[in-house]
Amino acid sequence: MVVGPSVFPDLNSLVASAAEQVVTLAGAAIAARGRFAIGLSGGSTPCPLYELLASPAFASRIDWTNVHVFWGDERCVPPDHPDSNYRMARETLLDHVPLPPDNIHRLAGELDPATAAADYEAHLRAFFAGDGEAGPRFDLLLLGMGDDAHTASLFPGTAALGETERWAAANYVEKLDAWRLTLTPPALNAAAEIMVLVSGASKADAFHAVLSGPTDINRYPAQVLNPNNGRLRWLVDSEAADRVLG
Ligand code: 6PG
Repeated sequence: MVVGPSVFPDLNSLVASAAEQVVTLAGAAIAARGRFAIGLSGGSTPCPLYELLASPAFASRIDWTNVHVFWGDERCVPPDHPDSNYRMARETLLDHVPLPPDNIHRLAGELDPATAAADYEAHLRAFFAGDGEAGPRFDLLLLGMGDDAHTASLFPGTAALGETERWAAANYVEKLDAWRLTLTPPALNAAAEIMVLVSGASKADAFHAVLSGPTDINRYPAQVLNPNNGRLRWLVDSEAADRVLG
């Protein structure tokens, strides 16, 4: 089920709404199953969301001892590297909330990409063992979208876009001349809730193409998002939504 897009005047109001939704989803998941499994996005857009969740106004509203944090993708760098999605989340959120260290499930960007992907896959299959073979049923998966319509590290024209069995993959991205670690389409679409945060004028063309353009997942990877038994919500600011609204 696709909801939205929810359009906000600016990134601050988008992030405030996203934070409230995280609190609500966390409370419901913990009440129902004793835990909240969230997949974090990298990039810059989610930074203010993570900082807000770590602030006094929100941090006390989440039972962090029952939260488990994963990532939708990671760069192939060590965890203390400036480009590391894990480092960004640690600095903006994880170091500021009482999350047990064992509840942090990072992708090992410091390892050989294929090994890191295989290790993560095995870890996901163990953690989500009770949820069947469809994929890791995250209670919430936070994603972003690039100005080329990539999401996680599923970039246009890359091999992992075509993965139908594995849950995690090492994906060579020619335009970056770099390997990335990413959840695959089946893993992304196994989530109970996907929330895609999109902000800024630079995303307007890609967002319009993803929602209104021809279906071409290889060209517009974010079109792959279609939860099997869950909800997809687009949270977009007015600049990024300009062409869709115009
Ligand atoms: C990453 C992210 C990536 C990100 C988009 C948007 O590792 O970079 O996971 O998919 O969400 O590139 O990035 P911005 O939010 O910085 O525009």
